[in-house]
Amino acid sequence: MTNKTILKALNGETQAVPPIWMMRQAGRYLPDYKATRAQAGDFLSLCYTPDLAAEVTLQPIRRFGFDAAILFADILLLPQALGADLWFVTGEGPRLSTITSDADFAQMKSKDDIHETLSPVYETVKIVARELPKETTFIGFAGAPWTVATYMIAGRGTPDQGPAHALREGNNALFEKIIDLLTVSTIEYLDMQIKAGAEVVKIFDSWAGSLKGDAFEKYAVAPARKITTELKKRHPNVPIIGFPREAGDGYIGFHAKTGVDCVALDNSVSPEWAAANVQKDGCVQGNLKPSHMVTGGQGLIDEVRHIRETFSKGPHIFNLGHGITPDADPDNVTLMIETLRETV
Ligand code: CP3
Repeated sequence: MTNKTILKALNGETQAVPPIWMMRQAGRYLPDYKATRAQAGDFLSLCYTPDLAAEVTLQPIRRFGFDAAILFADILLLPQALGADLWFVTGEGPRLSTITSDADFAQMKSKDDIHETLSPVYETVKIVARELPKETTFIGFAGAPWTVATYMIAGRGTPDQGPAHALREGNNALFEKIIDLLTVSTIEYLDMQIKAGAEVVKIFDSWAGSLKGDAFEKYAVAPARKITTELKKRHPNVPIIGFPREAGDGYIGFHAKTGVDCVALDNSVSPEWAAANVQKDGCVQGNLKPSHMVTGGQGLIDEVRHIRETFSKGPHIFNLGHGITPDADPDNVTLMIETLRETV
């Protein structure tokens, strides 16, 4: 048995005070993050320099005492390891070489070739696993195939994932080859993170909400199920968190359909709805609106209590509904944690 509160929740245990961590807990709202990022030079150098990536992974643990650390890396390192060019434009976000034809696909590497590029990430995992306090759980992660594919196909973030939907409809055979390559590569990537010391893995499907009906089943549910099934064969005791962001009704049954141990919720669903329709099947994570980390005050306190109480009848990991934003105030993070942990 474990004493780690995150692992207890993922094992299905209901706790009076739910454990907490925060998406993008290492990020630009923290002065210590900004200092280490400046030392690294740029974002990708930070991701690929194990000592510095480990340092920013640990900073929010030291400062706030979160119950989990999440590996510092990015979901777009995997396409880079598969051969895509990747760079970040300051103030705008990621750019990648696009993949829109069979000829582009033929240039991609295979799942067995990714580790050369990604080995610094595994080194980061080893350092963090060694240095983390014994009560803190270590979460590794990857992007879900659909979400990663949306960036690879468009070459950048897009408001509606239009280019990826166009390829899905216009050249479905090529689209499915991309999804399949990402699915098998994600399994190898997460397998290596686990071997290096990750205790939990999370699959980020940030754009799952733009897949509707049958497309949601084929490109959000099925890849998550394949990844989960294979990882469970290799590592039966490593819990998996799925995050089909903005899936709406697609959250219903997601535990059972994919085999994930926990479903992470965005803040577009109410805690009442999610407790009745999703938490009944297992652990949930979420789902405070990230803007509370900017506004703080009584509104933050009330909503933290509301979420804690609404999910109090089952396993719950407290988190935001999406990543904390650069304009957030670190004092509001402290207030969120203190409110959550107040005597109930
Ligand atoms: O949560 C953590 O603290 C762990 C590290 C982490 C990062 N990105 C660091 C990061 C994780 C888990 C991610 C996941 C990620 N990356 C997702 C899925 C989750 C989500 O937010 O929906 C996506 C879609 C990406 C792709 C990505 N990376 C974008 C679109 C951007 C630019 C937008 C932005 O916030 O600047 C990034 C950059 C990025 N990844 C930053 C961080 C801390 C900011 C970069 C910087 O320091 O300049």
